[in-house]
Amino acid sequence: MTALETTHAPNPTGTAAAKAAAPAPLLAARGLRKAFELGGRSIEVLHGVDLDIYSGDRIAIVGRSGSGKSTLLHLLGALDVPTAGTVRWLGEDLQGKSDEETAAFRNKMIGFVFQFHHLLPELTALDNVLMPALIARQPRKVAQERAAWLLEMVGLAHRLGHHPGELSGGEQQRVALARALVMAPRAVLADEPTGNLDAATADEIHALIHRLHQETGAAFVVVSHSKELSGRMDRVLEMRDGRLLTPGTTQNDTTPTDGAAPTAEVVA
Ligand SMILES: Nc1ncnc2c1ncn2[C@@H]1O[C@H](COP(=O)(O)OP(=O)(O)OP(=O)(O)O)[C@@H](O)[C@H]1O
Ligand SMILES: [Mg+2]
Repeated sequence: MTALETTHAPNPTGTAAAKAAAPAPLLAARGLRKAFELGGRSIEVLHGVDLDIYSGDRIAIVGRSGSGKSTLLHLLGALDVPTAGTVRWLGEDLQGKSDEETAAFRNKMIGFVFQFHHLLPELTALDNVLMPALIARQPRKVAQERAAWLLEMVGLAHRLGHHPGELSGGEQQRVALARALVMAPRAVLADEPTGNLDAATADEIHALIHRLHQETGAAFVVVSHSKELSGRMDRVLEMRDGRLLTPGTTQNDTTPTDGAAPTAEVVA
């Protein structure tokens, strides 16, 4: 097992000894900033976020609407590019990769779950889960076995042939979770996966997230308003106005990489 494959989370006490023994993070984000162009002005909504995510971590990201949670998740998952700062997965900088390389890397390393499941309506549950593996040109038989196993694990062994329109909201989100895990990713990034569900169904999905975490060993980073979920995660990171209120790293190397001055809301 290499240092990168160790599964333990960082020591929250942050002692020198713990730091020395800490494994390399699965994901290290430094000095992440994001500005959007609006009406000829550049408005910065993320003001320099530092975050380490370790193998097997369970992290909740909480915070008010508009605080930057989805923006951060998109940058971590290379769905969008930062205005400044770096995102490194296993020490590898994603910037500088071609779009095709980034997509292949993302498909292999990261599973995504969104508030609205984004399942393909014309495909069955099984084929929706299979899709990322087929895109990665995995042999259909191998991929199908894993997809069926995942659908069984999320309690849908009896719904393999159903289309999304024939499934309940909770069942659709279960399919989306199975799809996120089909490539055996190192991390699942979920943006309010239960935001669209009633409380009882949301609780079932939360329990499922913990079970899937246990079964697969993937890190889970979940944006959620649910206290029930965040109460059971290893770390809860609170965002406010484009910043993390809770330190996202235990290391002492949080200097922004872009050398930018402290932030102003409107930067141009
Ligand atoms: N494409 C965009 N163009 C301009 N501004 C944007 C864009 N996307 C997000 N923003 C702004 O960035 C800020 C953060 O948005 P973000 O979606 O990250 O918030 P959030 O914390 O996920 O909120 P919610 O809980 O409502 O989902 C908001 O003020 C939003 O208006
Ligand atoms: Mg959001």
